[in-house]
Amino acid sequence: MLEKFERYPLTFGPTPIEHLPRLTQALGGKVDIYAKREDCNSGLAMGGNKLRKLEYIVPDAIASGADTLVSIGGVQSNHTRMVAATAAKIGMDCVVVQEKWVPHYDAVYDRVGNIMMTRLMGAESRLVEDGFDIGIRQSWENAIRSVKDRGGKPYAIPAGASVHKYGALGYVGFAQEVAAQEKELGFTFDYIVVCVVTGSTQGGMIVGFAAQDRADRVIGIDASGTVEQTRAQVRQIVDNTAQLLELGRDIREDEIVINPDYAYPAYGVPSEETNDAIRLAAKTEAMITDPVYEGKSMQGMIDLTKKGFFPEGSKVLYAHLGGAPALNGYSYYYKDG
Ligand SMILES: Cc1ncc(COP(=O)(O)O)c(C=O)c1O
Repeated sequence: MLEKFERYPLTFGPTPIEHLPRLTQALGGKVDIYAKREDCNSGLAMGGNKLRKLEYIVPDAIASGADTLVSIGGVQSNHTRMVAATAAKIGMDCVVVQEKWVPHYDAVYDRVGNIMMTRLMGAESRLVEDGFDIGIRQSWENAIRSVKDRGGKPYAIPAGASVHKYGALGYVGFAQEVAAQEKELGFTFDYIVVCVVTGSTQGGMIVGFAAQDRADRVIGIDASGTVEQTRAQVRQIVDNTAQLLELGRDIREDEIVINPDYAYPAYGVPSEETNDAIRLAAKTEAMITDPVYEGKSMQGMIDLTKKGFFPEGSKVLYAHLGGAPALNGYSYYYKDG
């Protein structure tokens, strides 16, 4: 399916699948929990899901003759860190717009974690005041124009690398990789739990697992707090990707599963339950999740397990997409653990 697309390697290769026995026990032991460690996928600036997407975007950027990658995210964006890392690795310049997506006021929020690493890798990080929106942004268009105005050749990568024609291919590859690993493990997973915001991670998985006729087992946990927009964007991404890959059929509505229940109180702001989920994963498995994304999907997986959403005996695969550097911008929540 992916053979005809060029891939520029930025990751170590297939990511490990890890059994989480202590978390499994803490949740009653009736559902067996595993994690696929996308957070450990590369030596580039602590890795994460964006690198799988960028592997299919970089060949197009290089072929375009660009000299500058231009992208956008929030102040503590993992995505802009990964675009900065990619630019450094392939020898391009990088301009990233960091919008004020999160109503969070830690004194060092714009100095530590993701944004600090972004700056360290030589990217020009431009802070702007605009609020949260996963769509195409004026500030990003301004940044693209500013690179042209100074004589550079920009290559534009949208928020989360999602609304890009090749943005979801990497996570189609994830579905193929899981199928190959299942053969080695000798069993198949009943559910995959994944955080969703800009949509191409889950979107790619949906198309990849649709080819295995089990896309409805991918349970997206919304962390955007604007679930209708996220769902519409996932729809657009799966349609585009299914066509690009000549899947041969449309993705049905029931194959796009997004649970909106855990995004509260807002994008980038953890609830007490999110923080408890982060603590539980850390204390049982030393698996570090963040308050913006993975803590919310962890909370979702924990709550759905406790509620009996997954039938007894199910094997659940939690896709850990990265994001831990953002924790540094939220230190007050965790001062006592
Ligand atoms: C750590 C982490 N988890 C989950 C997501 C959500 O992925 P997507 O934007 O592809 O829906 C992101 C990025 O937005 C992320 O950085």
